[in-house]
Amino acid sequence: PFPKAVRLVEVGPRDGLQNEPEPIDTATKLELIERLGAAGIRHIEAASFVSSRWVPQMADHCEVMTGLTRHPGATYSALTPNLKGLEAGLECGVEEVAVFGAASEAFSQKNINCSIAESLQRFEPVLERAKAVNVRVRGYVSCVLGCPYEGEIAPAKVAEVSKALYEMGCFEVSLGDTIGTGTPFKAKRLIEAVSRDIPMDKLAAHFHDTYGQALANLYAVLEEGIAVIDSSVAGLGGCPYAKGASGNVASEDVVYMLDGLGIETGIDLNKLADTGTWITQAIGRPNRSKVGVALAAK
Ligand code: HMG
Ligand code: MG
Repeated sequence: PFPKAVRLVEVGPRDGLQNEPEPIDTATKLELIERLGAAGIRHIEAASFVSSRWVPQMADHCEVMTGLTRHPGATYSALTPNLKGLEAGLECGVEEVAVFGAASEAFSQKNINCSIAESLQRFEPVLERAKAVNVRVRGYVSCVLGCPYEGEIAPAKVAEVSKALYEMGCFEVSLGDTIGTGTPFKAKRLIEAVSRDIPMDKLAAHFHDTYGQALANLYAVLEEGIAVIDSSVAGLGGCPYAKGASGNVASEDVVYMLDGLGIETGIDLNKLADTGTWITQAIGRPNRSKVGVALAAK
């Protein structure tokens, strides 16, 4: 059965921008976050507290977290891969953070420079410290439907890492199809495997659209009962440690589909589409939302 409402997690300011080679002004990032909030998005991943040597575009994380305009009822989160990241985030007022692991050993090494087991060990103190200061922690698992280095990934492996994150205290586990290689039946089988250990309402779908399958995969997992979807305005983005990966599924396309299915999001599609038009012009990127392009041409 389809969910009645979906919570959309907008990852554009983080996943969408992290791979941009030219520095983007903090003011542009802040305006993007403000416009997304004004369009009704209530969960925005705004920055990441990672090494600026690894991801230079996120170096202004503190200016972003302290400078953003908070809409009532909205949450602004940031990635924190370790305790150092969490402490830095807390100093800049983060109210929710996310740790990120992977279901692939090779990807874990490339992305966060440690094995899966080591990453889980690093996350434990992050969860403990965050709990002590009342900050919720989301858990990401990358490569859930394929890895750029290892190819096929077993659903059982994804379930194992997801379960570890959930048991550690992550309030939600977001399943990342990092390189967008998934297809609908595979996506369904994945959700079946992971939801044996974790309640469906604690799972999120984070699908990249590299192979043009993301919307189809989302439809498939909505049917399974998934009700939290990560997306990026204008389909911006790509992971710096996953060669060839393109952006997340476009937020505008997701909202248009959900509107058509009668599933509530609380988001104003026209304002969202305007935001996609504006940010792609501001950073000189093509708009990868078909809905955004269609609405802009009207
Ligand atoms: P490391 O080199 O293994 O860490 O990096 P380390 O603890 O050995 O420290 C090395 C240096 O980094 C030290 O500095 C630390 O202070 C510093 P030095 O003494 O050499 O000057 N350092 C930090 N600086 C700032 N913030 C920190 C931090 N931690 C250590 N938090 C680390 C480990 C994780 C930091 C590194 O590998 C890293 O920053 N990786 C970036 C990973 C990343 O941001 N990837 C993209 C996001 S994940 C993604 O896109 C996937 C997702 O969207 C889901 C999906 O699509 O699948 C979430
Ligand atoms: Mg991603």
